Amino acid sequence: MRPKKKEPDELKDLAAESGAVASGDEGSAKVKQRGVWKRFFHTMKVAHLPYGWLALFVVLTILEGFIIVKLPQINGNFFAGDVSPKSIAMFIGIELFSTVITTGMLFVNHTIRYRTNRNLRNVLWGKILKLKPSYFDKVTANTLISRITDDSDAINEFVMDIVIEGATQIYYLAITIAAMSAVSIKAGLMLLAFTPVSVLIAFISGRLSLKFENSAKFSMANMTEYLSELISCLPLLKAFNMQAYEARRGKKVSDDYFKANAKLTALDFGKNIVGTLFGILPEIVIILIGIKMLKESTVDAAGWYAFYLYAGTFIGFVGTLGGIWTRSKSIQGKLSKVSDILYEENEELGEYVEGIIADGDVMFDKVTFAYEEEPVLKDASFTIPGKQVTAIIGYSGFGKTTSAKLLERIYEPDEGRILMGGKDIKDCGIAQWREGIAYVMQDTPLLSGTIRDNLLYGLRREVTEEEINEAVKLVNLDKFIAESPEGLDREVGQFGESLSGGQRQKIAIASAILTGSPILILDEPTASLDIISTSEIVNTVKSLKGKRTVFMITHDREAVKAADHVIVAEEDRTFVEGDNNKVSLLSGFYNMLMKGGEAA
Ligand SMILES: Nc1ncnc2c1ncn2[C@@H]1O[C@H](COP(=O)(O)OP(=O)(O)OP(=O)(O)O)[C@@H](O)[C@H]1O
Ligand SMILES: [Mg+2]
Repeated sequence: MRPKKKEPDELKDLAAESGAVASGDEGSAKVKQRGVWKRFFHTMKVAHLPYGWLALFVVLTILEGFIIVKLPQINGNFFAGDVSPKSIAMFIGIELFSTVITTGMLFVNHTIRYRTNRNLRNVLWGKILKLKPSYFDKVTANTLISRITDDSDAINEFVMDIVIEGATQIYYLAITIAAMSAVSIKAGLMLLAFTPVSVLIAFISGRLSLKFENSAKFSMANMTEYLSELISCLPLLKAFNMQAYEARRGKKVSDDYFKANAKLTALDFGKNIVGTLFGILPEIVIILIGIKMLKESTVDAAGWYAFYLYAGTFIGFVGTLGGIWTRSKSIQGKLSKVSDILYEENEELGEYVEGIIADGDVMFDKVTFAYEEEPVLKDASFTIPGKQVTAIIGYSGFGKTTSAKLLERIYEPDEGRILMGGKDIKDCGIAQWREGIAYVMQDTPLLSGTIRDNLLYGLRREVTEEEINEAVKLVNLDKFIAESPEGLDREVGQFGESLSGGQRQKIAIASAILTGSPILILDEPTASLDIISTSEIVNTVKSLKGKRTVFMITHDREAVKAADHVIVAEEDRTFVEGDNNKVSLLSGFYNMLMKGGEAA
């Protein structure tokens, strides 16, 4: 179910919010150059971190530090033979306290992560909805989904795994060194000599992990991309008998993923062996130091045991710190991807002023537009007379749909202007401008939900049941709905796939009619319809004459004949226009179409 009615206030908010790039924004190109910390602070600000929980985590970290210092001392006394009730009570007490703190830290850590993730996901989705439509030409749907589902971890990983974890490890390291030095400064210094080796091992293994993890992620992305495309095209591949071929392709992407993961597992195994071997070395040194200290009586059994525990903790912290550096590299990658979206320019919706501006003729005045290098429209000039029906015909790929998108302001002309009643439509806010237009696209997908949901989607006025029934009748869909047990409440399925192409088209047209918008853009409205339904739609369009400005892209002879005004996109990419009589004298394409030749 989706919202049925958008209030004007909501449109005002939408328009007001659209000006900014992201909250606290500056020009996108400038900010894109910025380093990881700028990106981090910006993303952190936008994602609204749960500061209360973070503060609690810091408190627990400090308490954990207290345990790190105290536990080896208390345990040392206990294991050195002090079994007095006080010592036993201290031993049990600190173990219990440690468990409570560790569990608490785990809970708070997870809470911070889930909350931060949720916040950033919501911000990202909100931002994606505000981006310029042209942005979606460069980025695939899967990429955007992965930004929201996977990469939204970036900020919490940066905060928890780099900033907090780094600071915590440095803090623990410092207090462990201090505690070790309290037992024996000399022994502590000897242990410090191992630090560069441990850091180096962690650094090298971290770099290798990063490389292998990236390769595993890449093959995972490939596999997802492949599956999502193929699963939505299953009937197509069956129609071409391509099961065996696709089974091989699918096996290849799956095998690639398997190989990348196998490498990662082998690396983990290797890391474990090297880690254990290098872990034994300092341990032997610690034991030798301990024996020497015990012999010289510079330390008692309790002190020696505490030192042994501190040393183990110390080695662990050093290793973790080395790993944080490489981990930060992988998180930086995610963070850049997320912040790139946040810095992307919004679609400027302009100010929303109530009252629809859609009076008079629409004029394309020397409009030039290119998606990439080659212009699709070059100096295109034509008129769409107000409150009349205009049909635009012409060769495939010659810019008819593009003209409709320019009129809807999904794209803006590179050069030239589009005028409405003599005024440049650029001077009107986009949100307000789009209010005046109902656009039925060439390949109309429906949204999941019911027929009624789709008819009322985005409608900004109350409609009565009679109006809905009338619109449904106008597009010749009333019989189909009456025959369905659920009627208007019949589910249409994902993208409307449980309906026929023609039924989807009729629902889209009925929905456009219901909006009452003064401008109606219909891109190939009869393309999927039978002769009877086509006639019904043409009659409906005819009935709008004098009431609405209709811009209809079509290759249907009956629809062209019904139009007051015809525009032809000619082979030399110029436009010829006039009523049917005039155009028949000027355009070879028109005559070819009307005589039943191959139109496009
Ligand atoms: N998003 C896009 N990015 C890049 N090129 C595009 C994009 N959309 C359309 N084009 C190209 O622009 C040209 C005009 O496309 P347009 O959809 O306007 O053609 P059309 O006249 O509506 O054709 P048809 O009759 O086949 O629907 C085509 O060459 C097309 O490949
Ligand atoms: Mg088209």
